[in-house]
Amino acid sequence: MNPLLGKHILLGVSGGIAAYKAAELVRRLRDAGADVRVVMTRGAQAFVTPLTFQALSTHPVHTDLLDPAAEAGMGHIELARWADLVLIAPASANLIARLAQGRGDDLLSTLCLATEAPIALAPAMNRVMWADAATRHNISTVRERGIRLFGPAEGEQACGETGAGRMLEVPELVERAAGVFAHQALAGRRVLVTAGPTREAIDPVRYLSNRSSGRMGFAVAEAAREAGAAVTLIAGPVHLHTPPGVKRVDVISAADMFAAVSNAVANTDIFIASAAVADYRPAAIASDKIKKTARTLSLELERTEDILAHVAARDPKPFCVGFAAETRDVAGYARDKLARKGLDMIAANDVSQPGIGFDSEENALQVLWADGEAALPRARKSVLARQLVALIAERLT
Ligand code: CTP
Repeated sequence: MNPLLGKHILLGVSGGIAAYKAAELVRRLRDAGADVRVVMTRGAQAFVTPLTFQALSTHPVHTDLLDPAAEAGMGHIELARWADLVLIAPASANLIARLAQGRGDDLLSTLCLATEAPIALAPAMNRVMWADAATRHNISTVRERGIRLFGPAEGEQACGETGAGRMLEVPELVERAAGVFAHQALAGRRVLVTAGPTREAIDPVRYLSNRSSGRMGFAVAEAAREAGAAVTLIAGPVHLHTPPGVKRVDVISAADMFAAVSNAVANTDIFIASAAVADYRPAAIASDKIKKTARTLSLELERTEDILAHVAARDPKPFCVGFAAETRDVAGYARDKLARKGLDMIAANDVSQPGIGFDSEENALQVLWADGEAALPRARKSVLARQLVALIAERLT
């Protein structure tokens, strides 16, 4: 069944050029069966008129907190109670700052304080504003309070620049809104995820590592949480926010990651190894910085523990999902790894293709299990992560 059917979506529109896309969003949410009511900030009305949203939503648009006529109809507390989801798209830097401060100085911010429904923000702003320390701080504050973030995406911006800060496209916003109400396919399950690279020290200032950004693993952790699981994320050194509701343990080396996984693995139902764990580490770490006296330098390396193989050898073992980064014969090598490591599922990607995989926002996965497979075509990692979690949930039952 369509998860948005009959749902009450309170769509908040704040000031930004992406406000014009919110008009299309109203249509698509209604197409999906939702009942939509729109609240606009003063800034939003400089970009789109309330009449547009009134026509598209077929309901009066709410703009003022202290409007006696509106309060006599559906007042702000009733609106806050009516909502099954408050979705703010676009969410401007100013609006996010006001939410972070818990202000109630206009209708939309007051509704966010007054509602018990989940709140989701679709940020849209210039990339420098998105990266600004004040915005970063406000984002982590609202996330800690359980407000969901849909995006932003990276790409070309209305101001002519390119970077992170673009509002997600309407179809993805509709999908994310549906995700809030989707069947909780992993409710009651415990999921352990590894993500990111590891760093293997050479001396006090140098290390061996790889280009993994951790994005895929963080997206998988977030998708598993959204599907109702209790999620622990063991993260190598990455610059990423912890997904809301996920327990995060930070580690540096493969040995640290192995210890953290061993510590957390008891009672785990699903283990998802997305980390790019170093296969080798220096056999000895120099206690002082190595000086460049010799003409050549050799490092002796030793194998690290294979964390995934170790977990897959447990008895009883969790449902084990591995990742495989390959440059050729992707399915062949992945199938071999599936059997060799005793896995239940493997998600393989072709890292020789430009623009996907390591260090990028997008990926494409070939998912294999003992008697089947599925191709997940190129998409944002958040989208793929939800598809992968759905496949895991299916195989699990
Ligand atoms: N993995 C792990 N611990 C390691 C190494 C890898 O848990 N020490 C996990 C990764 O998280 C990933 C999978 O194993 O899920 C990758 O398998 P691996 O055989 O290490 O892949 P490659 O390094 O690409 O192996 P190969 O050299 O055989 O291609």
